[in-house]
Amino acid sequence: MFPIIKLSIDTLTERYNPSLFNYFYETFPEGFWVCEKHHKIVGFIVGVKTNPEIARILMLAVSKEYRRRGIGSILLSNFLRGTSIKNIKYVELEVKTSNYSAIKFYQKHGFESIDILNKFYQSGEDAYVMRLML
Ligand SMILES: CC(C)(COP(=O)(O)OP(=O)(O)OC[C@H]1O[C@@H](n2cnc3c(N)ncnc32)[C@H](O)[C@@H]1OP(=O)(O)O)[C@@H](O)C(=O)NCCC(=O)NCCS
Repeated sequence: MFPIIKLSIDTLTERYNPSLFNYFYETFPEGFWVCEKHHKIVGFIVGVKTNPEIARILMLAVSKEYRRRGIGSILLSNFLRGTSIKNIKYVELEVKTSNYSAIKFYQKHGFESIDILNKFYQSGEDAYVMRLML
């Protein structure tokens, strides 16, 4: 788990307790995918099922030097395959309103903004809630 935790620290602005990674994997393994290239972890996605009909993406990250090569898209499509096995109706996530590349990424994959959460992040930044109907 250590390389995934390290990648999360290098790429994400929010910090997660390291023990949560094992917890997420054990609770919903269908929502936990990793991409390895040249024996190195270069991307991962972590999500959970929040009720029988809803899944939530908690983390998605690709190493800077591997971006725009389709890795994020592959991780997302594996995640969506896992959620469809579980008969989930929609997937939600929060993204910083300033995170242009992630918003474009999710829009390309059919997510729509359905709400804004003011001061959602510790930094005081707002979040869009984005949803994909499956
Ligand atoms: C968001 C992220 C996971 C995308 O990963 P990726 O592997 O680069 O994504 P893909 O190569 O599959 O990109 C697919 C599409 O997303 C959009 N996209 C991705 N990065 C973009 C950017 N910098 N600017 C505009 N659009 C972008 C494009 O539509 C792209 O398609 P295209 O390359 O044909 O134009 C990656 O940028 C990342 O790790 N960002 C930092 C962490 C983060 O913000 N995570 C999301 C938190 S909610």
